[in-house]
Amino acid sequence: MPAIVVDAPGKLILVGEHAVVYGAPAIAVPLQQVRAKASVRPNPTAPKGQIQIEAPDICLSRLLTDLPSDSPIVIAIQAVKDALEIDHFPAFTLRLTSTIPIASGLGSSAATAVAVIRAVSAFAGRPMTDEEVCSAAYRVEQRQHGTPSGIDNTVITYQQPVFFRRGQPLEVLQVKHPFLLLVADSGISSRTAVVVADVARLRDAQPAKYEQLFENIGLTVMQTREVIENGQLEHLGDLLSTNHMLLQQMTVSSPELDRLVTAALQAGALGAKLSGGGRGGNIIALVHPENSQTVTAALLQAGAVSVLSAPVTGV
Ligand code: PMV
Repeated sequence: MPAIVVDAPGKLILVGEHAVVYGAPAIAVPLQQVRAKASVRPNPTAPKGQIQIEAPDICLSRLLTDLPSDSPIVIAIQAVKDALEIDHFPAFTLRLTSTIPIASGLGSSAATAVAVIRAVSAFAGRPMTDEEVCSAAYRVEQRQHGTPSGIDNTVITYQQPVFFRRGQPLEVLQVKHPFLLLVADSGISSRTAVVVADVARLRDAQPAKYEQLFENIGLTVMQTREVIENGQLEHLGDLLSTNHMLLQQMTVSSPELDRLVTAALQAGALGAKLSGGGRGGNIIALVHPENSQTVTAALLQAGAVSVLSAPVTGV
């Protein structure tokens, strides 16, 4: 039997991160240029139920039973067992690789979870539906992040631009005219769970300030949805930059991220902001295609360790 190979893209949060945890809407798009891959190969000579995990990127080669119970791989496989009501799989080897940088706001954990869930359920002969995959991947995100909004597992499962509001049905965002983003990595890793917990503490200490910030971000997201759906891209840059300013006020930016945002704007980007949990990770900049090389050079000069070009297109 050949290996079952499944991959899943990374993601970018266009607008609305953090506020989305508190019920505001947010917009996210898949990032197809980076991917997590899971391959499942049967292991007919191994005892029934034995699962070998190979993740060479992180130098991991172990039996599943030797991983800690809160390992995302353990939780993802358990979520498949629960969804399919299966006690044991035939023995298999699960190999994981990824080009998505970890702890940098590009959805590495959700993409790995989605790829594992799809590959293992296909191996069991009962590929899970998108809805089942999304809710199983959310379980993994909960163990990783505590209080995830669910936006990462949703955009990565459905692989389409999404307008997302916690607890509400998915809305696919219609992109009238494609646009181009640059994704610049600060090279600083930052754990989303830590930043989300900080925001929760700050909100408890200053509820009025934070409720106002969440509300203003929500309004920015609604305007962003409108300009993307109506193709009025001349307004999109300002909305991204406004969102960055609100995230700065929330204290989730950093001097390095601000430096990249400023460099992009000075080189002619139409707007720029941090993307994801913040305090590290990536910024995104909206650029005219003809200006993309100039802005890329400016971002590298300002300290970016890599710059990806990410066209956003419709469904
Ligand atoms: O995983 P990250 O770093 O892209 O962060 C996700 C976005 C947050 O809004 C900060 C958290 C969440 O669960 O939505």
